Amino acid sequence: MSETNLLEKAEMYLTLCYRELNKEHLYPNRWVTVKNEIEKKGTYELLDFELNYGTKVAWRNSNKCIGRLFWKAMDVFDRRSLNSIDAIFESLFEHIELATNGGNIKSTISVFDSNKEILIWNPQLLSFAGYQNSDGTTIGDPKQLDFTKECIKLGWEPKMGQFDILPLVVQIGQETPVWREIPPEIITIIPIEHPEIESFKDLKLQWYSTPIISNMTLEVGGIEFKAAPFNGWYMGTEIGARNFSDENRYNMLPKVAKLMGLNLRDKINLWKDRAIIELNHAVLYSFKKAGVKIIDHHTASKQFMQFMKKEAKENREVTADWSWIVPPISGSTTEVFHTEMNDTVKSPNYFYRVEPWE
Ligand code: ARG
Repeated sequence: MSETNLLEKAEMYLTLCYRELNKEHLYPNRWVTVKNEIEKKGTYELLDFELNYGTKVAWRNSNKCIGRLFWKAMDVFDRRSLNSIDAIFESLFEHIELATNGGNIKSTISVFDSNKEILIWNPQLLSFAGYQNSDGTTIGDPKQLDFTKECIKLGWEPKMGQFDILPLVVQIGQETPVWREIPPEIITIIPIEHPEIESFKDLKLQWYSTPIISNMTLEVGGIEFKAAPFNGWYMGTEIGARNFSDENRYNMLPKVAKLMGLNLRDKINLWKDRAIIELNHAVLYSFKKAGVKIIDHHTASKQFMQFMKKEAKENREVTADWSWIVPPISGSTTEVFHTEMNDTVKSPNYFYRVEPWE
């Protein structure tokens, strides 16, 4: 980022931060300090509360996220002082454990130093391996084929199962990335069953409790945090209507339809639609039964509408990406479907990165 660009972004964020936190009286002095720091060093360091609030505003500005009503309630772990690979792994394990919180999932972010070139190779801290057989078929989650290959290259032993939790892979600077297995006792896996369809459990489906995104860069006031894993809790459709249902993921709809006794050659019996609904019912039911927090898409849609109203009261316009906010099933039954949205990208925010192996 050029120096003028950085100055501009810093000023934009810091004015917003100090205004929203009612600290305007402290702003003029702070701005002098930041300006000098940027002019001298080409960068500056965010104060603890500036970074803390920035992670939350970045969430508030995340156009693809339906769960933003709770943007103020995130546990922020400032990990900028950590240097050693051991301490970094330790803090990532701690993130998994504290965010999972015995099933009562807490929105959490860990922010590592932006100057230390810490790179987390995992797209999410928890994920299932994907393997390609020689005949082109796959085992596990096809989404993780590339990352799984990298893990194997680094010496991780493939287990060739449908649901093998991948190790954490961390790289510092130009050093070789280091992988470590996640202690199984901090991982919560939910077996998927259906409340009425007994044979559902024979599909042996399972999913992990906590979606911890680790391939997005947090940008606050022009400072880019490449290592800043964050999580919320799942909305059922992410697992039921995408991870298990997409043809290029676990592709379970034909199997579910078969065990429901539906004719897969019939064009008007809507077997895919009926299967996807029961699969989503099973996901919500199983998480609930396991005591792991999850939200259905109807409630999430209501909460998003509440978020829009609340923001309007604060005189802020909500930006949003309609194609992401509307759930992948039963769209028109949710209020968000009937709502117009403006997809302008604001800062602070979370941005996709190029995967390290690409
Ligand atoms: N869709 C992603 C997954 O299925 C997770 C994205 C973040 N989701 C969330 N509820 N915070 O793993």
